[in-house]
Amino acid sequence: MKQKITKAVFPVAGLGTRFLPATKTTAKEMLPIVDKPLVQYAVEEAIAAGIDTMIFVTGRTKNAIMDHFDKAYELEKELEARNKTEILKTLRGIVPPHVSCVFIRQSEALGLGHAVHCAKPVIGDEPFAVILPDDLIEDGTRGCMAQMVELYNQKRTSILGVERVHPSETGSYGIVKIGEASGTFSPIELVVEKPKPEDAPSNLAIVGRYILTPAIFNKLETTGRGAGGEIQLTDGIAALMADEQVLAYEFEGTRYDCGSKLGFLIANVEYGLLHPELKDGFLDYLKERHFSA
Ligand code: G1P
Repeated sequence: MKQKITKAVFPVAGLGTRFLPATKTTAKEMLPIVDKPLVQYAVEEAIAAGIDTMIFVTGRTKNAIMDHFDKAYELEKELEARNKTEILKTLRGIVPPHVSCVFIRQSEALGLGHAVHCAKPVIGDEPFAVILPDDLIEDGTRGCMAQMVELYNQKRTSILGVERVHPSETGSYGIVKIGEASGTFSPIELVVEKPKPEDAPSNLAIVGRYILTPAIFNKLETTGRGAGGEIQLTDGIAALMADEQVLAYEFEGTRYDCGSKLGFLIANVEYGLLHPELKDGFLDYLKERHFSA
């Protein structure tokens, strides 16, 4: 088994019902945080972690994602003619030359576990990353996935990015129970998908960042339908734990739940306040409105 993490899976086939009507004809992953679509942040995080093969598991209404990571000849020609060199450079930098993108169509929306399994023919016998673009993570430096790859290089085992959530929110996440921590990581003893608060083994939630060994694929083949009638990645991971250690990693950084309208708005405010060209004007506006930054 190759040991280096070079491939990332982006499950982007979800219907985005929480953002309708904005997502009626386009992908929720294309919604922008300030001036970049969510999915681009996810890809940039993967590139920063040394990953060079981006595997998108897509579905209906997701063609915009494919177009976004493709060359836009007419647009580039037009920008060239108008001497818009800066923005041209930005556009050309979306996919650096060493990075390739692969698109797989998930024909049936059977759940996250099914979506990840769709990437099996491209992944083969290698450990790989999974990034859910809805969970936007800002750590001010190398990125959450780079932190996880660093830990993987020491431990060579599956790792889930986790964070504490309010106990009332366990029903929205995969929840883990951990053993004794060694610094920022701990062995996982139990993992459950979306338990009710009264059944949750803790309030430590899986966020959309995973490093998985290829053994997960066999497990997903026999994982039946779980929470919400879907084939859950969490259930596949629970099965994997019978054979291999799986670690929980409490990442550095702030996560914005951009799958919810409030989280999406908050992320836009925070990224607006970080944006080199916009932050001063935006801060002035917020101060005028008597908001404090
Ligand atoms: C998925 C996973 C869940 C995880 C969450 C993180 O749920 O099934 O275990 O905690 O992502 O965002 P979803 O949000 O797709 O319902």
